[in-house]
Amino acid sequence: MRDLLGRLGGFGYGGDYNPEQWPPEVWAEDMALMREAGVNLVTLGIFSWANVEPEPGRYDWAWFDQVMDLLADNGIAVCLATMTASPPPWLARLHPETLPVTADGTVLAPGARQQYTPSSPVYRRYAVRHAEALATRYAGHPALAAWHVGNEYGCHVAESYGEVDAEAFRTWLRERYDGLDALNTAWSTAFWSQRYAAWDEIQPPRTAPTFGNPAQRIDFRRFSSDALLACYTAERDVLRAITPDTPVTTNFIPLGNPALDFHAWAAEEDVVSYDSYPDPADPQAHIMAAYSYDLMRSLKGGLPWLLLEQAPSAVNWRQVNRPKPPGRMRLWSWQAVARGADAVLFFQWRASRGGAEKFHSAMVPHAGPQSRTFAEVRELGADLAGASEIAGTQVPADAALVLDWPSWWALEQPSHPSTRLRQTEADRAHYAPLWRAGVTCDVVRPSAGLSAYRLVVVPNLYLLDAEAAAHLAGFVRDGGHLVVSFFSGVVDGDDRIHPGGAPGPLAEVLGLRVTEFWPLAQGEHVELAEDGGPGWLAEGRPHGTLWSEETRLEGASPLVTFASGGAAGHAAVTVHAYGAGTAYYLATRPDAESMRVIMDGVCRSAGVGPVWPGLPDGVEAVRRGPYVLLLNHDDRAHDIPVPAEARDATDPRGNRVGAELTLPAADALWIRSARDL
Ligand code: GLA
Repeated sequence: MRDLLGRLGGFGYGGDYNPEQWPPEVWAEDMALMREAGVNLVTLGIFSWANVEPEPGRYDWAWFDQVMDLLADNGIAVCLATMTASPPPWLARLHPETLPVTADGTVLAPGARQQYTPSSPVYRRYAVRHAEALATRYAGHPALAAWHVGNEYGCHVAESYGEVDAEAFRTWLRERYDGLDALNTAWSTAFWSQRYAAWDEIQPPRTAPTFGNPAQRIDFRRFSSDALLACYTAERDVLRAITPDTPVTTNFIPLGNPALDFHAWAAEEDVVSYDSYPDPADPQAHIMAAYSYDLMRSLKGGLPWLLLEQAPSAVNWRQVNRPKPPGRMRLWSWQAVARGADAVLFFQWRASRGGAEKFHSAMVPHAGPQSRTFAEVRELGADLAGASEIAGTQVPADAALVLDWPSWWALEQPSHPSTRLRQTEADRAHYAPLWRAGVTCDVVRPSAGLSAYRLVVVPNLYLLDAEAAAHLAGFVRDGGHLVVSFFSGVVDGDDRIHPGGAPGPLAEVLGLRVTEFWPLAQGEHVELAEDGGPGWLAEGRPHGTLWSEETRLEGASPLVTFASGGAAGHAAVTVHAYGAGTAYYLATRPDAESMRVIMDGVCRSAGVGPVWPGLPDGVEAVRRGPYVLLLNHDDRAHDIPVPAEARDATDPRGNRVGAELTLPAADALWIRSARDL
């Protein structure tokens, strides 16, 4: 990563470059426009496999050589794709067994992309061979700066259920379990006569008469993430052997698609990279965008990451595809930078004339460079080039949210007290009030080191083993503040209920037991009342949604109580002193305003504060190293009071910052302020 940064001398800026869609005359214009836009990094060749290897083993490198040379001559570094995300049609013709199969047995045909099952040894063999040929050809090429393996693994095909997959699943299970008895226990196969007498009886969780075995399903998700990861590591190993100094990454799919366990994947990358597509039609989209960037930064313990794709304006894959209004693309790019990105790239450089994505925006739109989009692209390039001192710096955080993929997979299984629980909604409900309070958060796995944090928030950790629970309890015992919401600590790693029920191994630290779940229907809510004195609920008619429950308090004190519904009279929010720390529990999803009041109270008690106090709603401040980045997501200008401590700060033009500064609508700026505000 250092190499990449050092080479670029600041932020990476550019996009997916797909020259095979254009005649060579256009390439020359591309180079001129890239230079004009300040592009210094492109991802190249993502969908070039069929054009480079038109028949198995016959390579046509000439045109690709030419593009690599052109980029090098123009001072543009290449994050070179291994081209394996979309196999050429000949692979399916020669080896139809490489095609993915859905749970109901449908074979997915070629004609789109990602038409391979990751478990196919044939696909892996061809993919690795291709990566090897590419690395051999371009090792030492002056344009080569990084490797981009595959593309958005798991984006369209997260799981495959064919015979090849069944075989690989069994092999994976044999490694995971110490014999068939251990698997039978873990999968609770005594239930519904599912006991397996031979490994060959085990299938992927294909379409079945009714609810499938949930432990089998969760293991299949684990297996599927690992199968894709094995494709990635097989290619990576070949690249590393040939070009040991070139960093390797793969662009993660936007958060919301839970196909990959990012924690396991990030450990195998030299640098984390991410594709971000917030919806311009959603006025709150920047909040979960911030959350996903905090996650990317946290995946490698705070190291900078690369925003490898975003849309310059509209996408093509929503029902109604709204463009980004003026300034929004720049603002959202700066938001990624504020939260640790060291590169800002787009999908894609030039808008396609044909194909499924011809209506997706691009840095050079169909209308050409005389367009608002290209003007904004050029401005942002200049902007980032002028801010290169920020690149490489880190983002400090006193608070963390916990996210765990196996728990996410397990949470969203059917046949639960409620199927209305969604991991990302839980994350949003807990992250939004912290974002609004201006508190910077990391997003970490349950087993992460927590000693750097004062506050740890667990939105919904349904699946939790005793070890991870002990780790969270230890954090509180040592003086930390912990917030845990309902339906956490319910099952162990095998999706088996913890003895005594929820919150299982968190019962002691939270000081309570759940005795009955009372989930709420769509539109249903329960009234909430203050219990432990005022200050824990919003004014008006505070209420809980989604969930309520009966609890037996075993040391915890109620702060808020259910005033209506099946759990009326039971605690809705509790606090429990444990060791040197404090643990809070939320037995419902309070309305957004109450959530804000609760989280503000918790932050005060934990001594966690905003980066920049007193900011108006919609204005975000994030510290990166000695810099503070200010972002106005509102559609009107705001006068921002500058804390006395920041008055010796300077803006990018070297001006001293006064007692107040004005931040126009959808604008971003950064100041240098070594001292905390
Ligand atoms: C994903 C893919 C790109 C492109 C974009 C469109 O991020 O990686 O190839 O399809 O979506 O938004």
